[in-house]
Amino acid sequence: MRILVTAGPTREPLDPIRFISNRSTGKMGYAIAAAAAARGHDVVLVSGPVQLESPAGVSTFRIATAEEMLAAVREMVRSCDALVMAAAVTDWRPRNVSLRKIKKNRMRPTLPLERTPDILMSVREQKGDRVYVGFAAESDDLVVEARRKLEEKGLDLIVANDILRTDSGFESDNNKVALISADGIVEELPLMSKREVAERILDWVEKHKRN
Ligand code: CTP
Repeated sequence: MRILVTAGPTREPLDPIRFISNRSTGKMGYAIAAAAAARGHDVVLVSGPVQLESPAGVSTFRIATAEEMLAAVREMVRSCDALVMAAAVTDWRPRNVSLRKIKKNRMRPTLPLERTPDILMSVREQKGDRVYVGFAAESDDLVVEARRKLEEKGLDLIVANDILRTDSGFESDNNKVALISADGIVEELPLMSKREVAERILDWVEKHKRN
C-alpha cells in the first residue's frame, strides 16, 4: 500500500521571527510512518517543524504552514491508498503577516486572526476508495466530539485522545486512545507506546483496505 502520513504542528507566521503554533512534537505521526515502512508499505510523510529525523525508508517532505501542508497533501494523496492525518494543524493564523519585525511599541495588543484551511475537509472530495484516518484531540466529550469529526470530515477511522491526561498525548512517548470507526465501533485501547498505537492503527487500515 502507498500511505500518506502527516505529522507535527504547523507554524503560522506573524512576522520574520514570530509564529502561532501548538505543542505537537510529531512523535505519533512519525511512529506511524516508521511502523508502516517497517511493514513494507511505501510511505510519504508530510511533516511540520519537529526535532525528529526522517524514519528509515520514508520519503519526508517538510513544510511549515497549514497552507503548505494542504498543498502537499492535495498533491500527494492522489497517488496514495490511505491518508493518516496525525498532524496538529494550527487552526488560526494572523490575518496580516509583516515582512519586517513588528516593534513592540507599534503593535496594538490585539492580534487579528483568521481560520486556516481544514485539510481533511479540503481533500474529502478526493477520497474515492482511499482509507482516511483522522485524529481527534479533545479535552471534553471525547467520544461525542470525535464522532462528530469522523462524520463531518468523512473519515473511515478516528483516533481519539484525551489531551488532558498527563501520562499520554502531547510530548509523551505513550498514548491512550480510542479507535472509532465509521461503522460505529469504539475500541478503547489501554495506555501503550505510540509505536504500539501506530501498529494498531495500521492493523485496522490493512484490514479495512482488504475488505
Ligand atoms: N485537521 C485538518 N485541518 C485543520 C485542522 C485539523 O485536517 N485545519 C485534522 C487533524 O489533522 C485531525 C482532525 O482534523 O486529523 C481533527 O483535528 P482536531 O484538532 O482534533 O479538530 P478540529 O478540526 O481542529 O476541530 P476543533 O477545533 O473543534 O477541535
